[in-house]
Amino acid sequence: MDVPVLDPATATTVAGGIPTPRSDDPTWWRSAVIYQLYIRSFADGNGDGTGDIAGVRQHLGYLKELGVDALWFTPWFASPLADGGYDVSDYRRIHPAFGELAEAETLIREALELGIRTIIDVVPNHVSSEHEWFRAALTAGPGSPERERFWFHPGVGPNGDGMPTHWVSNFQGETWTRTTNPDGTPGEWYLHLFTPEQPDLNWNHPDVRREHEDVLRFWFDRGVAGVRIDSAALLVKDPALPEVTGLEGAGEHPNTDRDEVHDVYRSWRAVADEYPGTRVLVGEVWMPDPVRFTNYLRPDEMHTAFNFDFMGRPWSAGELRESIDSMLAAHAPVGAPSTWVLSNHDVTRPVTRYGRADSSFSFADKRFGIPTDLELGTRRARAAALLTAALPGSLYLYQGDELGLPEVEDLPATARQDPMHFRSNGVDPGRDGCRVPLPWAGDEPPFGFAPQGSSPWLPQPADWGRYSVAVESADPGSMLSLYRSAIAIRRDLEGDESFAWLESAEGVLCFARGAGFVSVTNLGTVPIDLPEHETVLLSSHELVDGRLAPDSTAWLKTRA
Ligand code: GLC
Repeated sequence: MDVPVLDPATATTVAGGIPTPRSDDPTWWRSAVIYQLYIRSFADGNGDGTGDIAGVRQHLGYLKELGVDALWFTPWFASPLADGGYDVSDYRRIHPAFGELAEAETLIREALELGIRTIIDVVPNHVSSEHEWFRAALTAGPGSPERERFWFHPGVGPNGDGMPTHWVSNFQGETWTRTTNPDGTPGEWYLHLFTPEQPDLNWNHPDVRREHEDVLRFWFDRGVAGVRIDSAALLVKDPALPEVTGLEGAGEHPNTDRDEVHDVYRSWRAVADEYPGTRVLVGEVWMPDPVRFTNYLRPDEMHTAFNFDFMGRPWSAGELRESIDSMLAAHAPVGAPSTWVLSNHDVTRPVTRYGRADSSFSFADKRFGIPTDLELGTRRARAAALLTAALPGSLYLYQGDELGLPEVEDLPATARQDPMHFRSNGVDPGRDGCRVPLPWAGDEPPFGFAPQGSSPWLPQPADWGRYSVAVESADPGSMLSLYRSAIAIRRDLEGDESFAWLESAEGVLCFARGAGFVSVTNLGTVPIDLPEHETVLLSSHELVDGRLAPDSTAWLKTRA
């Protein structure tokens, strides 16, 4: 180890003489507000059109003022960016467009001085096809130990030109690509659940396990307070490579949620627990069955995982209530808090989604040209922001949602980058529309994202000046002001995970948290009276004659 171990719990006791929140609280993660920082699009410090660490460092004050407890950085490692960095070629190097390792270390420290922890993104299911292991495997050829770290397999049929299985990729299309032998003849196939540039690792191989534990230590040694685990349920494959039948029982699917995957997270937890402070494991686990989902959160596995059930639901009191109930019930037996997530870098922005006739989210339904009422969507997204921020557990905020940015649906075809779009033959708009660089200030692109004159890697809409941090900071009615107030008030709920529904009319979600706090959301069509209260702490829309209008949330202080 070449750096002193940094303990996120104690590095933060004092910043400029000001005691920082939760500085030494080992349970900080249970109710933390975590800001998802998509580094490419946050702020560009060097003018090359791509966000970078220098840009983040310039805006740490903004994040402090917003009140977040931690930053989750989507992958910032060396990568050919075939899938926006989820194709890592070297975990111990920062992508040169984002900065250098020393700068990342500085950033981690500077953020800690402000009381903000750093979570990094680890992508264990696959590496980049440019990763040295994969390059070595290609060179070493069939039967070599180098190939055993991946899923190389001969093809089916006399010429080997049939794929070993017909598994369908999470990005649509095929999951096997054929290699070419050094003499130019067609060779073995290799497995990739995503793009061909993301070969799947073989988690039965000890090198793969050891290497990932080393990577965790490498970053924990640098003061990282946790890892977000990409595609966490996919790692382990059935070595017999059977076809998917759709009839598999729990744990029997050949490439998803196999029981053996839990051993991996048990060993990761042991690594995390070697460190001072709580280093959290946060899983990206897409799993319709709540019990299979919370299996990942047993006390010796991950700390939390993204609750995508809530995110996928439409704007409906019944649906959201059912989701809240089933998620809280599923989490209770394992003792883990739920997370609340309205969006991320993979899904349609909330103000857009909630402005549609079908406001649920599913990857399969993404299309161009869906009619959208942005005013309605924004109204609901404001109400949803307060609803989720009032629920017990941790809160994830994807960059730009605090500004109410809409999905950008009219990106020029030449600007699009997302393999999900290309692999659907252009039917799925892909995820570029939620990854457009942030507007910070000014009336024209790049809106302070980058120095004037530089071109952001994805073009920003001409009218985004109205969403800029400068404009919204000056407007007490903006989405940004709402988030700042909500996060500040939410602090009072920390440490008390109690939750109880209160009686309410149909179409209304009303619950009490702790002593003297009530959140009420009106998803109905007519204004409602507020329950008894002492004061209104915050509301997503102005009350009309003391009543809460449709598609709004109010937070109330009640008698304790
Ligand atoms: C996760 C990431 C997504 C990425 C995929 C493959 O779902 O969130 O952005 O494309 O994994 O790594």
